[in-house]
Amino acid sequence: MNQQPNQGTALITGASAGIGATYAQRLAARGYNLIMVARDAARLQRLAAQLQAAHGVQIEVMPADLTRRDELLAVEQRLRTDAAITLLVNNAGMAVQGQLIDADIDRYEAMIQLNVISVTRLAAAAAASFGARGNGTIVNIASVLALAPELFNGTYSGTKAYVLNLSQSMQQELAPLGVRVQVVLPGATRTEIWDRSGGSVDALPAEMLMEVDDLVDAALSGLDQGEVVTIPSLPARADWEALEAARHALGPNLSRNHPAERYLNHVA
Ligand SMILES: NC(=O)c1ccc[n+]([C@@H]2O[C@H](COP(=O)([O-])OP(=O)(O)OC[C@H]3O[C@@H](n4cnc5c(N)ncnc54)[C@H](OP(=O)(O)O)[C@@H]3O)[C@@H](O)[C@H]2O)c1
Repeated sequence: MNQQPNQGTALITGASAGIGATYAQRLAARGYNLIMVARDAARLQRLAAQLQAAHGVQIEVMPADLTRRDELLAVEQRLRTDAAITLLVNNAGMAVQGQLIDADIDRYEAMIQLNVISVTRLAAAAAASFGARGNGTIVNIASVLALAPELFNGTYSGTKAYVLNLSQSMQQELAPLGVRVQVVLPGATRTEIWDRSGGSVDALPAEMLMEVDDLVDAALSGLDQGEVVTIPSLPARADWEALEAARHALGPNLSRNHPAERYLNHVA
């Protein structure tokens, strides 16, 4: 039974499996009440009953398909109106295998709807509520593929680069209002996403694959340490900081009133 002080309520999307279900367990153990969102209501109910029994926190399940506008808006509305919510874990996501040239474009569209549109609408709702109250935390789940478009298809990695960009910009916007933003970039993690996307987790070299408990514990450690960007696999934080420094160094030259020299004197 839980001995932690009440932390408010965490709303977790994609809480029925994988990374989201593990967040649900860890946050219940930390004393959060939970609102668990995913499509599979029966699975959510089973998990909620287990966590309630183990941790004595209040848990509500909110079945929703976040690719459906009406169901997404219901979750968004809850974030805008429930003042008990102190943490959003914006985790629900899907991957689609394959290349653009022979893509099932409708599945790509569903992926963009889930990984981009729903993440954005829920982040905006939480930002507005938390900003008005002057506290709250938003955790967005991206992927290391945000940094590596060559390793998988550009559409999935593009959705995750979007989440990274959005999060870095949100942090800048919301920190002055007292709202924390963290973005987590998991590498390959053993969850159902691999089977669901038509791939196989067993095809990966064992040294590349993290267990989901380790992933979420590292992500929460990063949150506790005040990180904005958490890359659980990355041994040296300085490597990320070097990439950011190189990006910032481009800054003064990214927008100027004349083209660069090499475009002025080039002869075709
Ligand atoms: N596993 C990895 O290797 C890895 C690596 C980098 C990033 N990530 C990211 O981590 C996040 C979680 O992925 P995971 O690996 O835990 O995947 P997962 O095991 O497949 O779980 C995905 C969760 O999202 C829910 N979900 C899927 N479609 C949904 C929809 N339309 N509406 C609402 N909920 C939906 C699923 O539940 P229902 O089926 O019940 O709806 C499930 O709870 C995703 O954003 C993913 O892109 C994963």
